[in-house]
Amino acid sequence: MTIIVTGGAGFIGSNFIYFELKNHLEDRVVCLDKLTYAGNLSTLEEALKNPNFAFYKVDICDRAAVYEIFEKERPDAVVNFAAESHVDRSIEDPEIFLRTNILGTQVMMDASLKYGVKRYHQVSTDEVYGDLPLDRPDLFFTEETPIHTSSPYSASKASADLLVGAYQRTFGLPATISRCSNNYGPYHFPEKLIPLMIANALSDKPLPVYGKGENVRDWLYVEDHCSAIDLILRRGTVGEIYNVGGHNEMRNIDIVKLICRKLGKPESLITFVTDRKGHDMRYAIDPAKINRELGWLPKTKFADGLEKTIEWYLTHREWWETIISGEYRNYYEKMYGGREEL
Ligand code: NAD
Ligand code: DAU
Repeated sequence: MTIIVTGGAGFIGSNFIYFELKNHLEDRVVCLDKLTYAGNLSTLEEALKNPNFAFYKVDICDRAAVYEIFEKERPDAVVNFAAESHVDRSIEDPEIFLRTNILGTQVMMDASLKYGVKRYHQVSTDEVYGDLPLDRPDLFFTEETPIHTSSPYSASKASADLLVGAYQRTFGLPATISRCSNNYGPYHFPEKLIPLMIANALSDKPLPVYGKGENVRDWLYVEDHCSAIDLILRRGTVGEIYNVGGHNEMRNIDIVKLICRKLGKPESLITFVTDRKGHDMRYAIDPAKINRELGWLPKTKFADGLEKTIEWYLTHREWWETIISGEYRNYYEKMYGGREEL
């Protein structure tokens, strides 16, 4: 089949493209990406050599351009990763999040209906459930947990999820949704916690931990997220939502200390800075449904995944050093320059 993958020049989308090209030699993968600050064509360098892969630089909000690609490629399936994905940026400037994450999703679904796509998959996030208290480790997000968003980013992703549900029920779009916890691994943009801490530690720069660093995230190696989406796309039930996570909850401060240890850097690099506005305390996914119904289980333990990730950043310095030497420097100055040390 032909699969359209949006946002494939970003972190998870690119890993998914490599996963599909490796595991489904019979399929054709077509990537649509606007190449925003978060999209990087060099990430797809190897894929571009594969005759089963095609790339289009396009904004998913550009209806005419998207329809033209569907007309030409006649996809069987669509996986929509394309999004503005960084919570901190959504707090600075929400508008582009509403445009890409909501209206872009609408365009992709309209195109899927118009061209009779057999499967539409929406890549969503556990952040649509809001957060859990630190003193209730017995609580987890299930697919029945009510939507309760905190940031403009999570509100835009939740809005898209509601639209997907509406398109499925009203227009019969054969859609599924996955809601995954925090990913880490190769090609993770260095504005996010793990790659930012690795890059800063390697340059002996301060490691800015928000608030007290007690917030908990549920980390999953990116390849495990890709295998979950692949399963849902091929075997998931239309109209269903699947939570994806590996029961790997960690406090931010513990992750940062672990990175220091692994890189042989002193913990004195850690600086506690002004907290993120509306900062979610704890995310924790219950993946029982995808395990029970599709037999999905994560393969990579956090210790191994972090080891592989650090190794990747050490051996792909050019990839992230190019990013942090460009426009990213202005971003970093703007976002971290004004943050008070606590
Ligand atoms: P990313 O920011 O690394 O990549 C986003 C990609 O989308 C980039 O290549 C960018 O160029 C592209 N893009 C942005 N706007 C576009 C537009 N208007 N048209 C076409 N392309 C556009 O994001 P990511 O971390 O890889 O996340 C991918 C998806 O997974 C997002 O939908 C996100 O909400 C979801 N998700 C992410 C995580 C995580 O931990 N990173 C966890 C769960 C879900
Ligand atoms: O849970 C899934 C979500 O995970 C995805 O939907 C988002 O697209 C993805 O960006 C991620 O969101 P988070 O806000 O959890 O990830 P981030 O890496 O930005 O932050 C992780 C935690 O680390 C969070 O509690 C904030 C904290 N943090 C982050 C940065 C960038 C710091 O303490 N210092 C930092 O410099």
